[in-house]
Amino acid sequence: MGFAVTLISMSETEPLLASLELIASRTLAHYESNAVGFWDGTRDHDVTQNYAALLNAIGRSAPLRILDFGCGPGRDLVALRAAGHIPVGLDGCASFVTMAKVHSGCEVLHQSFFRIALADETFDGIFANASLFHVPQAVLPRVLRELFAALVPGGVLFCSNPRSFDTDTEGWQGGRYGSYLTIESWTHVIGAAGFVLERQFLRPTGKPTSQQPWLAMVWRKPSAS
Ligand SMILES: C[S@@+](CC[C@H](N)C(=O)[O-])C[C@H]1O[C@@H](n2cnc3c(N)ncnc32)[C@H](O)[C@@H]1O
Repeated sequence: MGFAVTLISMSETEPLLASLELIASRTLAHYESNAVGFWDGTRDHDVTQNYAALLNAIGRSAPLRILDFGCGPGRDLVALRAAGHIPVGLDGCASFVTMAKVHSGCEVLHQSFFRIALADETFDGIFANASLFHVPQAVLPRVLRELFAALVPGGVLFCSNPRSFDTDTEGWQGGRYGSYLTIESWTHVIGAAGFVLERQFLRPTGKPTSQQPWLAMVWRKPSAS
């Protein structure tokens, strides 16, 4: 997934609250317009390293309750269910919700990242693969606090996002809105929501750092003391 494009800074866009619905609707319309092509292009991606990062950090046997945040058409729901877990998808793109249900047989919630409605302390783990970067920086703290609340104490958040190599930027990339943060900024904002960093790695593996645009991170919600 490429992202070497011209970005428009948030200061050049409309005020945040008025913009959120626009950001969601345009970004989701982009995915909607190419839903079948997205499935065809990503269904065979090897995501096993990311599954392992989440599941090893949880450190318990199946069945685990896992939220696939921004599940797309369901590749990872299929894999997690096949491993004996109880994954639940969440996505704002109606076609992806339908496809993910059909492909995986799992429960899939049709929700916007900006209007999350999840019960507290429901999930052992959250798998946010290539999804959190669609959240503008101004609402990222709120979204992260909502994900924090949805995890059981000791639960684990895995996220993988395209990173910025120099300064934080956000804006429109073609038809999608994205936030591209440095490693330091991702670390700061997720830590500020209460999570504790367990590990991080860059992808794709085996490349020089300069050719590793994907930042994978494993975070834990501390257990109640
Ligand atoms: C890059 S795709 C990743 C999909 C899947 N996790 C994967 O790894 O293939 C980003 C996903 O986030 C969803 N998404 C983007 N913005 C959203 C929003 N505001 N609310 C809900 N879902 C959103 C898209 O519909 C899409 O499924």
